[in-house]
Order: sequence, then C-alpha cells, then structure tokens
Amino acid sequence: MPKSRNEAKLATKYDLRVPRYTSYPTAPHFTEAVDGGVYRGWLGDLDADNPLSLYFHIPFCDEMCWFCGCYTKVVKRYQPVADYLDTLLAEVDLVADALPGRFRASHLHWGGGSPTMLTGPDWLRTLEKLRSRFDIGADAEIAVEMDPRTATEDYVGALARAGVNRASIGVQDFHPEVQAAINRIQPFDMTERVIGWLRSNGIEHINMDLMYGLPHQTTERVTDMVDLAVKLSPNRIALFGYAHVPWMKSHQKMIHEDTLPGGEDRWNQFEAASKRLEENGYVKVGLDHFARPDDDLAVALKEGHMHRNFQGYTTDASSVLLGFGASAIGHLPQGYTQNLSPLKGWRTAIENGVLPTARGVALSEDDRRRAAIIERLMCDLRVDLGEMGGAGAYRAEVEKLMPLVEDGLVTVDGERITITEAGRPFIRLAAAAFDAYLGEGEGRKEGGQPARHSRAV
Ligand SMILES: C[S@@+](CC[C@H](N)C(=O)[O-])C[C@H]1O[C@@H](n2cnc3c(N)ncnc32)[C@H](O)[C@@H]1O
Repeated sequence: MPKSRNEAKLATKYDLRVPRYTSYPTAPHFTEAVDGGVYRGWLGDLDADNPLSLYFHIPFCDEMCWFCGCYTKVVKRYQPVADYLDTLLAEVDLVADALPGRFRASHLHWGGGSPTMLTGPDWLRTLEKLRSRFDIGADAEIAVEMDPRTATEDYVGALARAGVNRASIGVQDFHPEVQAAINRIQPFDMTERVIGWLRSNGIEHINMDLMYGLPHQTTERVTDMVDLAVKLSPNRIALFGYAHVPWMKSHQKMIHEDTLPGGEDRWNQFEAASKRLEENGYVKVGLDHFARPDDDLAVALKEGHMHRNFQGYTTDASSVLLGFGASAIGHLPQGYTQNLSPLKGWRTAIENGVLPTARGVALSEDDRRRAAIIERLMCDLRVDLGEMGGAGAYRAEVEKLMPLVEDGLVTVDGERITITEAGRPFIRLAAAAFDAYLGEGEGRKEGGQPARHSRAV
C-alpha cells in the first residue's frame, strides 16, 4: 500500500469544500416539501416507547465573535430574549400536543448563540415547563453551551438547580493576540474560575471548544493552547477547524485573510494539537473530538456505538431528535425538519398554532443506507459495505476513493473501507464519496464554483 508522502502537502491537494456530515442528506438539500403539516403527521406516528432527544436553539449573544458561523444575533436588552423564550415554550406545547401520548426525554441540548443569555429564574421556569410535558428522569443528560464571559457563581448555581449536568464551554484559544483578532477576550483565569464553579455545583461533565486555523494561530501557539486546556481537565474537547465563510457570515470580514493560516499550516496545527492531547491521555474521537478514556464518548467509540448528529459526536442513540427554536433542525425516523429562521416568521407560525417548519427531507431507503455508511465512516473510520446491505452496490463510490487510496489515506479490502490514521483529517472526503446529492458546484476548490462548505482540513 503506498504510504502518504508528505501529509501536510496533501492538505493543500485535497483543499476541497465538503460537508461536515452532521446529517445525511445535508441541510442544503432540504426542501419546502416538508412543512408543518408533514411534521405534524410524522410526530403523530412516533412510538411513545422510544425516548426523545430535544434540541433548543437560543439565537442571541451579548457580543459577536468575528469567527462565529452560527445562527445568532447580538442583543443589548433582555426583553427580546424573554419574548423568544415565551414563544419557545409555546412551541413545546404545540409539539407535545401533536405527539401520541406522553414521551420520555433522555437528552436535552441547548445550543446557540449563547443559551446562557437566559437568566437563572428563566432556566428554572423552562425546565419546570419541560418536566410538565415530558418525563425527564434523573439519568437524562441536560447539556448547555456556555459563554463563560458572562457567568457568575450564582448563575452557575441556578443552572445546577434547574438540572443542567453538562456544560460545553466556548474557549477557542487562550492567546491574547488570537482573542483580540476574533473579538473574544476571555483570559485563562476566567475560564478556570467558571469551570471551578461548575464542578463545585455538581456539574461535572465539562466539554471545551477549541479551534485551529484562527487568525494569528501558529503550531506553537496551538500547542500552548492545548497545554492550558488540559490543566483544566475537561472530559471532552472539540477541536474545530475555523470555517471562514465571509460570503455567508459578513462579520467574518472583520478577520483579515492575510492573518489566517494556509492549508498546510492548518494541517500542522491540527496534528500538533492532536498529538499533544493524546500525550495527555485524551482519546481521539472521529474527526475533531477528544475525550478522557473514562468519558462515555470514549467508551461508546470503543464499543462501536457512537453516533453523529447536529451537535457533533454523541452517545445519544435516540432515533428522534426534536428541534425547537428558530432555525432548529430535527431528525425523526421519517426524515429531517428545519424550523423557520427569521424570528418573525417562526413566532407568527407558533402564535397561529402552526408548527414552524420551513423545510426538510423525507428519507428514501437509499438515503437511509447512505446515511448509515456515512455515519459509520465519520464515527468509526471504517465501514463494511456488505454489513450495511450494500454488497457490490457502491462500485462507482468506491472508485471515487481511489485517489485517497493512492495517497495512503484510505484502504479498500473487498467490501471493507478503512480510513487510515493519516487519513483521519480527510474523513469528510471519504464520506463525500457516498453522498448522492453532492452537486457539481459543491466540493470544488474555492475560486471555482460556489463553495458552500468549509475546508475539509
Ligand atoms: C454555537 S457556538 C456556542 C459558543 C458559546 N455561545 C460561547 O460563546 O462560548 C459553539 C462552537 O462552535 C464553534 N464555532 C463557531 N463558529 C465556528 C466557525 N466559523 N468555524 C468552526 N467552528 C466554529 C466554536 O468552537 C463555538 O464554541
């Protein structure tokens, strides 16, 4: 098998724009054929014996971070957030009324934006409301994405009282020059203090978000970033490659392109950070996550039942994820749904008693098989096409993997496809070979056709 010659050079060669495969089909392929009426029908057909996962989107922040690729907006007053929460809780009633019975909710995830824009009393009333509509056991995971810059000790106490038991802390990098360039000043001591409060209040599951490929980052700085992060001993670390898409997120224009590391530098940064994390005992999980060996995610990986959804890698095996809030995405056995994004449209639908679904996709049998193949590749870095019911069926797709095989990034042995360790940063490219929707204009080098997705590495 040819061994990869110069892996960093391959990062330039394969600098293609491909999806991150948090779903298949991916969101750009959702259509208006799935509306509130279709969603209502799907909800009505769910089986109350299967637990639900619930996702809540809070699209507000105190300040805009220049790197941000998420759906959020800056607000200076609390009233719009409080009004939004009222509508969100009305959406909970609408959806719960459409379900055939009372369901158990086993995973609740709050993302944004910054869900920690909500006040302590609002967290308490929200969880009370959710408990009135769903069975939420003591073993349920209640996870919140947290902006530590606004947290106080009292606030963390309120989160704990509401039942939150996992916090994902946004850090990105600890270096002052990098922080200044992304408009996110967050000294190390601040992050350390907030993690201390979380632990002393019993919120022991701590995730931390770090990034590479940010302005002014170097391999050395990224290694220092990891050294500081591991001092705080988070259970999980996400190491995201900065996706620079200023044509979609105009505030990213505040980041000067000449301060951004190039393809090879990005690769070297990822490799250096990843090596340092492993030296510190973290287990590599999929594309961009790391976990302490005792963490559930590392255990799920070892046992082959890790999953991938819109929140990234997860232990959540539920077949139903209901999305609440503007732009939120859901996944049901029948297909995907996405809510309206403009706040006004989302609110008006709910006020009129209509489920605020904007679009989605009903899954065909072919979609399901490809989704399962892509999920196994993204999670386990290997898949047996025969076991997925696809023996001999994906010859054209396997052919597309041949350049990756030539470069030592993938091996193909009969029906078994394996991504090599050198190929780990390129998993998305291997997954893309099985994506029947990836159009001509996608997956191209920037400068060619519209590149909707971020760099693969
Ligand atoms: C929705 S944000 C929530 C962070 C939280 N609001 C905070 O301020 O700490 C979740 C994570 O997505 C990642 N992220 C956001 N924009 C990104 C981009 N353009 N490229 C890669 N990762 C990004 C960051 O690591 C961020 O912490």
